[in-house]
Amino acid sequence: MAKLWAGRTDGVTERLADDFNSSIRIDARMFEQDIRGSIAHATMLGAQKIISSEDTDAIIRGLSGILEDLKTGTLKIDPASEDIHMFVEQILTERIGEAGKKLHTARSRNDQVALDSRLYLLDETDAIIEKAKNLAKVLTDRAEEQQTTVLPGYTHLQRAQPIVFGHQLLAYVMMLLRDLDRLNDCKKRTAVSPIGSCALAGTTYPTDREAEANLLGMDSVCLNSLDGVSDRDFMLELLSDLSILMMHLSRLSEELILWSSWEFRFVELSDAYTTGSSIMPQKKNSDMAELIRGKTGRVYGDLMALLTTMKGLPLAYNKDMQEDKESVFDAVDTAKICLDMMAGMIGTMKVNRKNMRRAAETGFINATDLADYLVGKGLPFRTAYQIAGKTVAHCHDTGEVLETLPIEEYRKICPQIDADVYQAVDLDACVSRRQSFGGTAPSSVEQQIRSVRKLLS
Ligand code: ARG
Repeated sequence: MAKLWAGRTDGVTERLADDFNSSIRIDARMFEQDIRGSIAHATMLGAQKIISSEDTDAIIRGLSGILEDLKTGTLKIDPASEDIHMFVEQILTERIGEAGKKLHTARSRNDQVALDSRLYLLDETDAIIEKAKNLAKVLTDRAEEQQTTVLPGYTHLQRAQPIVFGHQLLAYVMMLLRDLDRLNDCKKRTAVSPIGSCALAGTTYPTDREAEANLLGMDSVCLNSLDGVSDRDFMLELLSDLSILMMHLSRLSEELILWSSWEFRFVELSDAYTTGSSIMPQKKNSDMAELIRGKTGRVYGDLMALLTTMKGLPLAYNKDMQEDKESVFDAVDTAKICLDMMAGMIGTMKVNRKNMRRAAETGFINATDLADYLVGKGLPFRTAYQIAGKTVAHCHDTGEVLETLPIEEYRKICPQIDADVYQAVDLDACVSRRQSFGGTAPSSVEQQIRSVRKLLS
């Protein structure tokens, strides 16, 4: 195929150089956005009388046909093309002749690629938002069902205090709500139109950038043409947001892996999301959760790759920037599949209430409650803390737990202790009393579920 830019040179390049230079393998996926952008551009050119209305109509008809044919598969993208922009323009000119050559008036691939990337990422961000909302809903449903399931809450991965499982699941919903907030905010800075910046300096044609941006559903136009073609902040912002989102999914994955280990056995992942071993017949591995944890590193890498690409670039466009899409598309694809995978795993996992309870019954996670009980009897907290600690040490030696230690033994350690101590250290009572705002009491968990449902609807 002859190069559209042949002129200054004969356009004859090494095959290896063509392959090296080509980005169509990566940017072909933006064909819809590219054509949408070109239709808006032709419309603006026609309205501003930069090209005739006949040419405008021919271009729009031609582009619509190409879009249709690409969607149905009648037209195949040529992998030998330099990029999606060149491919569409070439086909348009083949199909409609001279008028096709007028589409690129008052435009450069520099502002075109910046526009296409923004349009594409806006669509993808919407898709990610939907998937994140879905996961948040699945987690909330499971939390609602597990409002009274007691298990140990951990700090330093040591049993700390009793909580209910719904509370733990809702903590992840809160993270997702912040992720959603960040993604929505990122859209604001992405929906700024660079088109009309042209190569770098703007144009001599009487274009109407506002009108073109409006046609594309963009909120505003960028104010400086050099910035318009050079800015990739919107991609870096999305990559940052996705890195944080993946970090959240990775932490949840880590917990799923732990919880489904034989040592914990708090949950059992559905067979649909686990694999076996090729040699050990007893194995049920949580590969999907491990892959989410693993792929999180890839997404961080995508962010680092683009930050590094951008850091030394002089204004305005440099070909280095063609590398941007491979990173950001990889991150988008990864986040989408991981969100779906996580929703599937959470929605189908079996919760082992009995094992959670058993873990909560050992480890003295109600020791804080014993101290609080003694504070109620008039002791200062520090003294109460020491007595509770001594009681735990005593139980440790005798093999008792706070729930079973005889009252005489309690009294030997501290005469202020009465029979109502058993109510104080009862696990269900322990969680029910934590009614502070955001606490683990089932009533508080219910309140959290109500707030979350309102925010998600
Ligand atoms: N394929 C290029 C990219 O993705 C399009 C812009 C090329 N512009 C240029 N002046 N060579 O960045």
